[in-house]
Amino acid sequence: MPESENTPYARLGGEEAVRKLVNRFYDLMDSETLWQTPLRDIHPKDLSASREKLFLFLSGWLGGPDLYVQRFGHPRLRARHGSFPVDDQARDQWMACMLRAMHDVEIEPELYAHLQGAFQRTADFMRNR
Ligand code: HEM
Repeated sequence: MPESENTPYARLGGEEAVRKLVNRFYDLMDSETLWQTPLRDIHPKDLSASREKLFLFLSGWLGGPDLYVQRFGHPRLRARHGSFPVDDQARDQWMACMLRAMHDVEIEPELYAHLQGAFQRTADFMRNR
């Protein structure tokens, strides 16, 4: 199997599947009152730009086309989160929301476990207080 077929991006199902995951993530964030405060509250009222940016970022982060970098340059993800208070509670809510989204779009167990670890490490790194 060529290397490009064994990326998380390809295993997930490519562009359509990444969009589906991101949309489920923000739909949940927008509707689940458990994650209203602080997670939903620190996001913009209109989540359409957030949806687009997370999709572009995850495309490259999962091993697919590096769309975010092509559009915006180096992500500097930690710096870009610097203007939002990301504490343990915000991180835990972000992770819970992403895990539920991955569950809902029915990611196969092995890939789910791999992505859970990768998201957790990235989310830990985003904390700034
Ligand atoms: C740890 C908890 C996290 C919190 C509370 C959080 C919150 C936020 C907020 C408030 C924004 C700005 C609004 C927006 O543009 O959507 C944002 C942007 C973004 N977040 Fe997070 N985030 C977290 C973790 C993550 C993780 C783990 C990733 C990637 C795996 C990620 C990727 C992004 C991206 C790509 C953007 C857009 C950056 C830009 O171009 O402005 N975030 N996040």
